[in-house]
Amino acid sequence: MSEGWTKSTWRTRPRIQMPDYPDQDALHAVEARLANYPPLVFAGEARALQRKLGAAARGEAFLLQGGDCAESFSEFTADSIRDTFKVLLQMAIVLTYGAKVPVVKVGRMAGQFAKPRSAPTEVMGGQELPSYRGDIINGFDFTPEARIPDPDRMLQAYTQAAASLNLLRAFSKGGYADMHRVHAWTLGFAEGEKAERYREMTARITDTLDFLTAAGITSATNDDLATVDFYTSHEALLLEYEEALCRVDSTSGLPVAGSGHLIWIGDRTRQPDGAHVEFCRGVQNPIGLKCGPSISPDDLKRLIATLNPANEPGRLTLIARFGAGQVGDHLPRLIRAVREEGANVLWTCDPMHGNTIKSSSGYKTRPFESVLREVREFFAIHNAEGTIPGGVHFEMTGKDVTECTGGLRAITDEDLSDRYHTACDPRLNASQSLELAFLVAEELVGRREKLAAAI
Ligand code: PEP
Ligand code: CO
Repeated sequence: MSEGWTKSTWRTRPRIQMPDYPDQDALHAVEARLANYPPLVFAGEARALQRKLGAAARGEAFLLQGGDCAESFSEFTADSIRDTFKVLLQMAIVLTYGAKVPVVKVGRMAGQFAKPRSAPTEVMGGQELPSYRGDIINGFDFTPEARIPDPDRMLQAYTQAAASLNLLRAFSKGGYADMHRVHAWTLGFAEGEKAERYREMTARITDTLDFLTAAGITSATNDDLATVDFYTSHEALLLEYEEALCRVDSTSGLPVAGSGHLIWIGDRTRQPDGAHVEFCRGVQNPIGLKCGPSISPDDLKRLIATLNPANEPGRLTLIARFGAGQVGDHLPRLIRAVREEGANVLWTCDPMHGNTIKSSSGYKTRPFESVLREVREFFAIHNAEGTIPGGVHFEMTGKDVTECTGGLRAITDEDLSDRYHTACDPRLNASQSLELAFLVAEELVGRREKLAAAI
């Protein structure tokens, strides 16, 4: 057990980005109920994920993490879970082809409800109201009532997360995730007129699958082709919820966050002495840490020491999110800090949060080109430093939304109003997500070729 830690010690630290519930009795009642509910994940699963992330940190696996910016109560349907899951699996096959190592699949799903905000209030039509902080905290509607933090929302979030996870587990093991089926969907994407560039890679994957079938390795004979391991993740922002779902693992006797497999600390809540770092240091789940332009090498060193004192592989994933054109200003100094500590970390790239702009039509958007550019800069710097670019982190959906501009079916600023559905940040749609996977796979192929030539 981490020294001086209990699941409540975060309460002694500065708390930011969390609501002050007006009805404390109602809050305590909800906490007590959640504390009796079953955890959503089992500690053994979190340990298995940590081993896989450790492999990714060594370059023996690659992490694909993706899903909604914010899950919402109103968009909760089997179709939206299925569609996002489906695209993640398609992306994973393409990335496996590029990386030639297993892809670890982690959804921003089944628990990604709480949002940090840049400003505590929002102004619309001359009216100022508290900011929307995600469906687990308050309502999206711009009314004073909706914006009051309501602890009962935690119960609804728990129920939605449980039902989502149940469906994801069924899809993962029940036949839906069969590699042949998933690849067949990608063939459709690559047939499009403008997708020529991706046809060759798709054809090679088809060839490989045909070869395996000919050799007698099919989904009927081999579980690895018929099923997947799929993990969940979210930002551990609402600590009352996290504490209430914290459990002691009966195998190890150690505390585990029961709310999801991997939890991460956001770029706004990573103060080394803050409440969020305090909670996360004591649970044995793999921990993600967002690293934006303002993180100093000294802070990173302190955070590494606090969050991973035993230097366990796979325990700590550093999620770099600097913005296109800025990776070179920040990543090298952080890579140096990690090297100086001799720290085991997995480096991944979130090319979404540093690339949000306001479009000419007024919508918050992210240009596909900037997203791609940040990924390429991330790879180039790791290649130059001799370190390992171990994964990618996207805000995406399986739906055909129009929230990010660009991509094969070039979405323009004017198109954004057509299907702009996000409860928070703009997401890549299904086609943009898959296209990006192809482009990341090209980076991975290029990296392998360079490494092979250097031997
Ligand atoms: C997020 O991942 O949705 C998020 C808010 O990210 P960051 O903490 O990196 O800004
Ligand atoms: Co976001």
